[in-house]
Amino acid sequence: MRVWGVLTAAGSGSRLGAEVPKALVSCGGRTLLGLALERLLAVRDLTGVVVTCPEGLEGLFQETAAAELGPRELVSVTFVAGGASRQASVKAGLEQIRDRRNLLREETGESFVEDEDGEVLDIVLVHDAARCLAPTSLMEDLVEAVESGAEGVLPGLPVVDTVKQIYIDDSGRQIVTHTPDRGLLRLAQTPQAFNFDRLLDLHLFAEGRAASEATAATDDAALLEEAGGTVEVIEGSPEAFKVTTPLDLERLAAALGEPEAGLPT
Ligand code: C5P
Repeated sequence: MRVWGVLTAAGSGSRLGAEVPKALVSCGGRTLLGLALERLLAVRDLTGVVVTCPEGLEGLFQETAAAELGPRELVSVTFVAGGASRQASVKAGLEQIRDRRNLLREETGESFVEDEDGEVLDIVLVHDAARCLAPTSLMEDLVEAVESGAEGVLPGLPVVDTVKQIYIDDSGRQIVTHTPDRGLLRLAQTPQAFNFDRLLDLHLFAEGRAASEATAATDDAALLEEAGGTVEVIEGSPEAFKVTTPLDLERLAAALGEPEAGLPT
């Protein structure tokens, strides 16, 4: 088995009010990028990681990660430009992995057909730098689930609030249509794990949607669901919370034992 990672980090950070891309926002000297990458690189059987960056900032992201983790940690990491949506960024990352895998195949003469007869199975973890404290153990649990035969697996948290489905009427009022049973709702986190070839096929098939965030899938599992595949949920982790607002940055600082969160100077 071989494990690959796509770390999406091409977001702008506008909801954080930051002047730098969100992944470079720092907390006690650690960036979201460095924290997330460190945890991903510690996954067992990891072969390589692709980080998607805002276009033109690939070099800056690489330098930042190298300064934080040490250049030797980055030998298996490549930095590529992301796309117009998260979905487009993930596709760019998967294509980079496909190219690296083809190179490996040429170098080693190894077969890459995944089957039950001991051939190499490639598993990909798709993760967001914004969920920078998601633990390595969670990532390994997801990989194990795919290794055991799951098509796609994600961490999910139970929903404590009552959730309302709404529609917006002609005058802009939000009208409730129904109240789903919250016992059957889960908040989806990342990383999410898949058979690499299956996920790449899904992204190639759905690329028409990726041109804008308005039409793009907001996670990878959605592409598998829509194709009729089975997505399993394992217990999520409170540490895999997403840093979106300044309040989340305070939560991050508290989790790291830092008195104050800040933006890089
Ligand atoms: O914007 P949001 O927080 O939902 O983004 C989720 C993740 O996707 C973030 O880690 C962000 O950096 C990444 N992203 C990306 N390419 C985009 C938009 C977001 O890699 N075009």
